[in-house]
Order: sequence, then C-alpha cells, then structure tokens
Amino acid sequence: MTNNHGRLAGKVAIVTGAGSRSEGVGNGKATAVLMAREGASVLLVDNMAERAEETLAMIKEEGGGASVFQADVTSADDCQRMVETAVERYGRLDILDNNVGMSAGRTVVEVSEEDWDRVMTVNVKSMMLASKFAIPQMVKDGGGSIINISSIAGIRAHSSTPYTASKGAVVALTISMAADHAADNIRVNCIAPGLMYTPMVAGRLSDANREHRRMAAPMQTEGTAWDIGWAAVYLASDEARWVTGVVLPVDAGLTVTTPATFQRLEHLA
Ligand SMILES: NC(=O)c1ccc[n+]([C@@H]2O[C@H](COP(=O)([O-])OP(=O)(O)OC[C@H]3O[C@@H](n4cnc5c(N)ncnc54)[C@H](O)[C@@H]3O)[C@@H](O)[C@H]2O)c1
Repeated sequence: MTNNHGRLAGKVAIVTGAGSRSEGVGNGKATAVLMAREGASVLLVDNMAERAEETLAMIKEEGGGASVFQADVTSADDCQRMVETAVERYGRLDILDNNVGMSAGRTVVEVSEEDWDRVMTVNVKSMMLASKFAIPQMVKDGGGSIINISSIAGIRAHSSTPYTASKGAVVALTISMAADHAADNIRVNCIAPGLMYTPMVAGRLSDANREHRRMAAPMQTEGTAWDIGWAAVYLASDEARWVTGVVLPVDAGLTVTTPATFQRLEHLA
C-alpha cells in the first residue's frame, strides 16, 4: 500500500463518477484512489462500469479495498441501490463524494431546453438523490461527511451559463444541507476546483490554452485531479470534524485575484 496514513481507516465511502471519461486521472478517480489509500473501503460508482474497473485496478494494485457498482446517479432507484450496496458490502456509510458533473451549452440564448434540463439533472438533482438515501444511513451510523463537487464556475462567470448556474446551485445546496443535517453530525462541504488539467478538459485544450490556464492563477502551477482528491480526503476525515458548509476553492488562488491585482498604481507606490 502506497503512503497509507490511515486518515480514513474503518470508514466506508461512496464516490460517484469514480471512473474517468478518458485516459488519465479525473477528480472522481483520484479521490477514490486517495480515499482507499487512506484506509477507506470505497464503492466506485459509475454508469460506465468499465471506467470504474480501471480505478478498481489502480486501488487493487496498491492493496486497497474497493468494488465497482454500476449506477446512473440521475435515477432515484439507482441511488437507493447504491447506498444499500455500500451497506451490504461494507456494513456502514461514512462518506459520500458527489462528483458526477457535465457541461452543455453556452448562453441562455443558445442553450436548448433539453440541454438545460440535462445539466441541472446530472449536476444538481443527482446530488439531492444520492444524499436523500445516504443521509438516513449516516444518521444510523452516527454521522458522516458529504462532499459536493462544484467548480469555480459556481462562483464566477465561466464558459457556460448552464454549467455556472448548476454549479452555483451546488454551492447553495451545500450550505442549506449543512444547516439541515448538522445536528445529526453530518457535515456537508463543497469543493470548487479551478482551471485544472484533467481528462474532462484535456481533449478540448490546445497547448496554448493549457498554458494560458496554468498562468492565469497567481501560483502559476498546473492543478491536477490529485489536488481535488486530497481536499476531499481532508473534508472526509475526522481532521475536519468541525468544518461544515464550506466552499473550498482549490484553484491556485485564481478566485482571489482581479485583473488589477498585480498592477502597481502610481498613487499607491
Ligand atoms: N476537470 C476540471 O477542470 C473541473 C473543473 C471544475 C470542476 N470539475 C468537476 O469535477 C467533476 C468531474 O470530475 P472528473 O474529472 O471525475 O470527470 P470525468 O468526466 O472524467 O469522470 C466522471 C465519471 O462520471 C461518470 N458519469 C457521468 N454521468 C454519470 C451518471 N449519470 N451516473 C454515474 N456516473 C456518471 C462518467 O462515466 C465518468 O467516468 C464534475 O462535477 C466537474 O464539473 C472539473
């Protein structure tokens, strides 16, 4: 087992979208691998089982505990079976990482009604459905941690208005759920990944675009899915036992700047 510090030892996690859409490591895959590395038993949920099988192979190679469950998280029945399966296989549920997300359309003028509904269903309704069945189980088990994957697009205008609207809804969902379930010792937090390099965007980026994204944030380094995975490990762990309702940007500082941040103004010099 690689670098196992046991930060999630004994915990049971569900990661949705635990495969990656193409070669390489996406957020769901990295999160599942790191949670298993930290000692969690992980249910790898994906609607394309073969993608989750690749994640399983990585975890198995490191000696971690995980198994695949094929499910479409936009289906209530599938979400219910997903939670039941985690409990059947591992005995309890401590962590739900709601990672599935997609983009479609650009402006409200251009987007079709079907695409709008699809983005809202895949990005927002799926998190409601998964949580609806996970929370009663977590209550039985004495508490838990839910991590919703938003985006800096949820707090800034980005490339697609439907995507931004859905990711903003994930932020609102997170803070309201955090309040609703705090008394049951269920923490609900949200990660807002920045302009990182993952299979989700790799196919659409020229080398120049990729470099532009890297240089856009003040740290001027390229983010990867592992950066999101480590943030999720922290939020899932008992180290974060007093942290709920947080929107955590993992973006090399992009969202703390404005175009004027590094301008030296005469009157301030
Ligand atoms: N990559 C980035 O630059 C970036 C930036 C900000 C936010 N995000 C967010 O990160 C999340 C995804 O990250 P990823 O890198 O794991 O994406 P990915 O697309 O590589 O992998 C997601 C997996 O989800 C599965 N999936 C899709 N629809 C599903 C459904 N309905 N039910 C079950 N599984 C389904 C796919 O088969 C795929 O294997 C999304 O919420 C995305 O919006 C990514």
